[in-house]
Amino acid sequence: MADLSTTYMGMSLRNPIVVASSSMTGNLAGVRKCAAAGAGAIVLKSLFEEQIVAETNELEKYADYSGHGEAHDYVQGYGMELGPQDYLKLVSDAKHEVEVPIIASLNCISSERWANYANKLEHAGADAIELNVGIMPTHAKQEGLKVLEQYFKILHDVKTRVKIPVAMKVGPYFTSFAHFADRLTHDRAEAPPFAAGRRGMTREEGKITWQGADGLVLFNRFYMFDIDIDKLELVHGNPYSTPAEIHYSLRWLSLLAGNVGCDLVGNTGIHDGRDAIKALLAGAMVVQICSTLFLNGLEQIVKMQEQMQAWMREHGHNKLCDFRGLLSQARSEHPEHHERLQYIKLFGGIE
Ligand SMILES: Cc1cc2nc3c(=O)[nH]c(=O)nc-3n(C[C@H](O)[C@H](O)[C@H](O)COP(=O)(O)O)c2cc1C
Repeated sequence: MADLSTTYMGMSLRNPIVVASSSMTGNLAGVRKCAAAGAGAIVLKSLFEEQIVAETNELEKYADYSGHGEAHDYVQGYGMELGPQDYLKLVSDAKHEVEVPIIASLNCISSERWANYANKLEHAGADAIELNVGIMPTHAKQEGLKVLEQYFKILHDVKTRVKIPVAMKVGPYFTSFAHFADRLTHDRAEAPPFAAGRRGMTREEGKITWQGADGLVLFNRFYMFDIDIDKLELVHGNPYSTPAEIHYSLRWLSLLAGNVGCDLVGNTGIHDGRDAIKALLAGAMVVQICSTLFLNGLEQIVKMQEQMQAWMREHGHNKLCDFRGLLSQARSEHPEHHERLQYIKLFGGIE
């Protein structure tokens, strides 16, 4: 039988099917089920910064500080200990209960509160941290570069507080995504040269010399709203992806594979084993799945592995590294095909 084991950000995984962050992984029972269903690793539900800030602000409404600054600081600090305290417990319980790597997930829009908290997650036993960062740049006066700097700062601040690997999970909406990914995954001052990658990093005791992301998750699928034209109101869009949504991820996996110094993760639109094979052929180290589990149940994890093994058998591959990145731009004889945006006759005479 083909070997599906792999590494991801230096962790050993029995297979490359990682359960993505969602309500399914927000409690111990869910984590246990995902592990029993065969997941290679599990990303816990994100702890949301906005949620904590909202809780803190709610507390503040009822607090009478009588003009004392410390009281304000205390409430801010207390707010950080509410949900996050439970989250630390979830991390350590999950680590005791299941064998697979546990990746804690933080939804950050700033780094002020989170850098120290990331350190607590490490001490609670998290094998890695995933930073789920999505900044909505809605202000007309907000310059693009400033928005990007927020991403870099969040990553940098967390990286300097932990020794465990840190992945960045981002959405697809960026100018110059290749440059953005390059900046996220390389610290130009300290990183090993391009393509030597993460494996060349050194982490001296107590001093972290590598500030780039260890993993890049492509891509988060954000909450979408729809419009009810009869009630004249905003309503929830479909929370689940469809397999047709895999293409944007495939494009960027294949463009970045071999060109960034970190592990790439395929996410959004991966619904079965053949989709997972596509992501690996494009250059993904592992895939993350969410919608297919809500739609098809946790049995999908084993089914996907069987489908992957059947494909590997058919194509004569024994290990994932035999074919990973085979269809990346870096290994292509026709790199220009990966950059094609417009429809032309070349592909099947569409026009
Ligand atoms: C109900 C639901 C809750 C989610 N919650 C989170 C979350 O807390 N943090 C996060 O990073 N992504 C969250 N996601 C996004 C998923 O982790 C995943 O990135 C996205 O659904 C795309 O993958 P898919 O096509 O396999 O569904 C959520 C998705 C769904 C459907």
